[in-house]
Amino acid sequence: MTDVKVSKIALLPGDGIGPEITREAVKVLAAVSNRFGWRYKLNEGLIGGIAIDKTGQPLPPETLQLCQASDAVLMGSIGGPKWDTTDPKGVRPEQGLLAIRKELGLFANLRPVKLVPALVEASTLKPDVVAGVDILVVRELTGGLYFGARGRLNGKVFDTLEYSDAEIERVLKVAFQLAQKRRRQVHSIDKANVLESSRRWRELATEVSKQFSDVQLEHMLVDNCAMQLIRNPKQFDVLVTENMFGDILSDEAAMLTGSLGMLASASLGGGSYPALYEPAHGSAPDIAGQNRANPLATILSVALMFRFSFQRFDIADAIEEAVSQVLAAGYRTPDIAAANCRVVSTEEMGSLVAAALKG
Ligand code: IPM
Ligand code: MG
Repeated sequence: MTDVKVSKIALLPGDGIGPEITREAVKVLAAVSNRFGWRYKLNEGLIGGIAIDKTGQPLPPETLQLCQASDAVLMGSIGGPKWDTTDPKGVRPEQGLLAIRKELGLFANLRPVKLVPALVEASTLKPDVVAGVDILVVRELTGGLYFGARGRLNGKVFDTLEYSDAEIERVLKVAFQLAQKRRRQVHSIDKANVLESSRRWRELATEVSKQFSDVQLEHMLVDNCAMQLIRNPKQFDVLVTENMFGDILSDEAAMLTGSLGMLASASLGGGSYPALYEPAHGSAPDIAGQNRANPLATILSVALMFRFSFQRFDIADAIEEAVSQVLAAGYRTPDIAAANCRVVSTEEMGSLVAAALKG
């Protein structure tokens, strides 16, 4: 029987390079549709700075409704100097991103850091250090320091880091479940030598690990982890950590693969709302509109969409394979350019991946 279901995807291009990179991801969706007969409908929404300009709000209610009524959300990137402000009452594009994660309950952010063999020379680290790196960063995404009370009061400033046990446990469980399908090793990253929240995190990690006797748990302090990622990244399988630690460590880990332009992400929730897929990098305002950005993190985020939202592992594998093929053939956007490679534009890279998908 033919599959007549039409998957609804909310497309939120956002700011800076967002529109350019999502356009290439859309090309890949079209190629997938052709090859696999998979049917979809895209609906565009506003988020971030462009939403502030057009509606006064970084996450307009229509965008949230659109996302809630979709099967998956694909986002580009948000932010830029135009909207930067230090005014505590100021409206910022980033508020839109934090709000959509919170509203959709997307508490687990998966950032796979896997070195594509062809890019072993693109990293600033020695090939023997990065070859074979395959790490999954699981970042808590709707709690902690980015969501606690903050403000300015009587010449002082404060940000607060709060978690309920349930918030910590659910993201730990996701990490352990994913580790079961990988190399069965979880590093729980904290700052338990200083922070109370980290001490509780550590207790709960130990507690949750008892339900996963086939997975090995190690605790590691975040500063040590930052160092170990550079010293010996191959020791890691799954890293799970608090929101801000995960934000920082995932950018660091991405550089093992050569560029932040390669880091895809999936933000998953409890299932009542669709998951969200976005590159982990920002809106790169310095190169926006120049057709130079690397669309691969967004394209690889589409692969994650097929894996996690549509359970189409065949399509996810095909997209990842197409990306590897294009890189193996020597095509590179400027951020990952190397000697003897052919430097291509954002558009060309998207077209090359789409063409490779035709098989
Ligand atoms: C990311 C980004 C965002 C975050 C910013 C833009 C709010 O850095 O997705 O990593 O910190 O979560
Ligand atoms: Mg970040």
